[in-house]
Amino acid sequence: MQDLSLRDAAPVGVFDSGLGGLSVVSAIRRRLPHEALIYIADSRYAPYGEKTDTFIRARSLALAEWLVQQGAKALVVACNTATTHAIADLRERLAVPIIGVEPGIKPAVQASASKVVGVLATAATLRSDKLQQLLAAHGQACRFICQPGHGLVEQIEQGAADGAVVDTLLAQYLTPMVDAGADTLVLGSTHYAWLMPAIRRRFGDRLRLIETAAAIAQRVAQQLEQHGLAAPPRAGEAPMALCSTALSEDLRTPLARLAQDMLPPEGRVVGIEVGGAD
Ligand code: DGL
Repeated sequence: MQDLSLRDAAPVGVFDSGLGGLSVVSAIRRRLPHEALIYIADSRYAPYGEKTDTFIRARSLALAEWLVQQGAKALVVACNTATTHAIADLRERLAVPIIGVEPGIKPAVQASASKVVGVLATAATLRSDKLQQLLAAHGQACRFICQPGHGLVEQIEQGAADGAVVDTLLAQYLTPMVDAGADTLVLGSTHYAWLMPAIRRRFGDRLRLIETAAAIAQRVAQQLEQHGLAAPPRAGEAPMALCSTALSEDLRTPLARLAQDMLPPEGRVVGIEVGGAD
């Protein structure tokens, strides 16, 4: 077991292909400040959205098993792509409660006045049975315009969520939706939460943005309660370990920057190696 300095607290384990899941960690931290957390950014293998279903399942299983070995009492799959392709498998193999994320299709339909909703998600999420079922379930009430976000995750991983490349890609992906009458946009990847300032800057209030981090944090709280796993209240902040499979400091730096308000003062990003799918 790696020394992650969690001072014996059984943590909630959270993982994503990279920096996206930090938006979920931030919501969990706000909702459950006394829960210790371990987060893995699998940045070495991002983006998952352009990989095969088999690859996504293998990485998800390797990360989930590693977190359980570190003593995680529950897991949060803070990645739409991994949830849609791997959560059933994880639940079959691992004995801890596992909470996933999925694009907020239902809240988007409820929020939309025009009943035209844009869905920005990874190519892998868009082709998944889970997303297709969600769209079909709400397809009577609404027209969906689905767009894969090719290239966006790579920019976010490099710490360029607010840069010129992102701005050009967003214009290319979202303008046709707005022109077709969409008034609401589902941010169907946890990475895309980091694009909210850039989307707002370009589209103002023409698009209502739907992301589900707070709802997931609420679900984590319920599951911990239900399984008798909730941490007792503690004085001071619970420990948190942030881990990255990125080998280069260049990729760890954006993680440290995004996490700087979440990390305890002595916190740092720990490089780890988690095998599987190589
Ligand atoms: N953050 C992930 C998601 O929610 C995946 C991004 C990627 O690695 O392609 O789908």
